[in-house]
Amino acid sequence: MLGLFGRKLEFPILNRGFGLIDEGGRFVLSAVEKPLEPPGKNQVLVKLHAASINPADLVFMRGTYGFSPKEGMIPGLEGSGEIIACGKGIAPRLFLGRRVACTPRVGEDGTFATHMITSLNNVVPLLPSLSYEEGASLIVNPLSAWLLFQTVRELHAHAILVTVATGALGTMLTRLGKSLGYTMICVVQRPEQVDGVKTAGATEVLVRSDPEFERALPEVCHRYQTGVVLDGAGGEVTTRVVKALPSGSTVILYGSLDGNGLALDASDFIFSGVNMQGFWLVNFARSASKMNLAKTFYTVQRKVKHELATPVFAEYPLARIHEAIECYLSNRSQGKVILTME
Ligand SMILES: NC(=O)c1ccc[n+]([C@@H]2O[C@H](COP(=O)([O-])OP(=O)(O)OC[C@H]3O[C@@H](n4cnc5c(N)ncnc54)[C@H](OP(=O)(O)O)[C@@H]3O)[C@@H](O)[C@H]2O)c1
Repeated sequence: MLGLFGRKLEFPILNRGFGLIDEGGRFVLSAVEKPLEPPGKNQVLVKLHAASINPADLVFMRGTYGFSPKEGMIPGLEGSGEIIACGKGIAPRLFLGRRVACTPRVGEDGTFATHMITSLNNVVPLLPSLSYEEGASLIVNPLSAWLLFQTVRELHAHAILVTVATGALGTMLTRLGKSLGYTMICVVQRPEQVDGVKTAGATEVLVRSDPEFERALPEVCHRYQTGVVLDGAGGEVTTRVVKALPSGSTVILYGSLDGNGLALDASDFIFSGVNMQGFWLVNFARSASKMNLAKTFYTVQRKVKHELATPVFAEYPLARIHEAIECYLSNRSQGKVILTME
């Protein structure tokens, strides 16, 4: 098969990575090697350089994501690398040799590996100014932040409440919202997180561990006439927020970091006029036209060094993925942990 610079690539190519092993109903990661056959029609083979670890990867491995884990499957929802081979079709050939950010096809092997075959629809050519490390965190959070504010714009709100204002996405939402002219009201878990969130652009910061939180929440929501809530908690704080909002507000639920479910009654919606809707990036990717995707990614990439920047806390070689995940879990508010393949 034709590869990069017209060189002939010998298949199968050995893909080395970490796959899921079922240990009595619990999936763990273990080193795997898989021979890769040439990419099919409209597919490309990416030699991966970097991958980021996201909450969705861990949720996926626990079996509670939008699609199910399978024995032997390589997880990893986003990464970056170079396209070294392409399948049949004119379009894939135009991408040969390009540096790209990439995601796997739904239900197929992902980015915690040296290589990945994916669909042409799942790659985004990187602007020359972006590094592979920046490319590895381009798709999931920056795109989500941008799209969430596309929805916010349609809701004609002036004040936005963010329930998880720390971490990669929370910081992007706060920065982006401020830059777009919204009043940002942010919820953090601990007092030491207040200064960082204020620097990112929050007008008001509420601390969940503060004994005054329950009283302050409805007061602040009504004072600023909060019209939209961007909610990554999906738990106890969501329940409190819904009960605290002014009539007609909309809660956009995009995450479940609280993980303990909602305790809401029908009357919390019927009489208050509060609305709730879900957001999942995959649904946008499935329904957007190629032109819309290309335009959106161009805009998002231009903001990746500014409002949509992802701080990196640490980099680990892929072989040390277990340590990398531990490091990520202990430092989620400090920045992303990136896996590198070389
Ligand atoms: N729906 C979608 O399409 C979509 C797209 C992108 C992201 N997301 C979701 O967005 C969320 C954030 O992603 P991310 O990449 O920004 O994560 P991240 O970088 O790992 O940051 C997570 C942040 O949340 C904080 N946190 C943890 N548990 C919390 C809780 N129970 N309540 C409030 N804050 C909590 C963490 O603080 P400490 O650990 O320091 O306490 C950390 O600051 C995740 O749930 C992710 O799955 C959804």
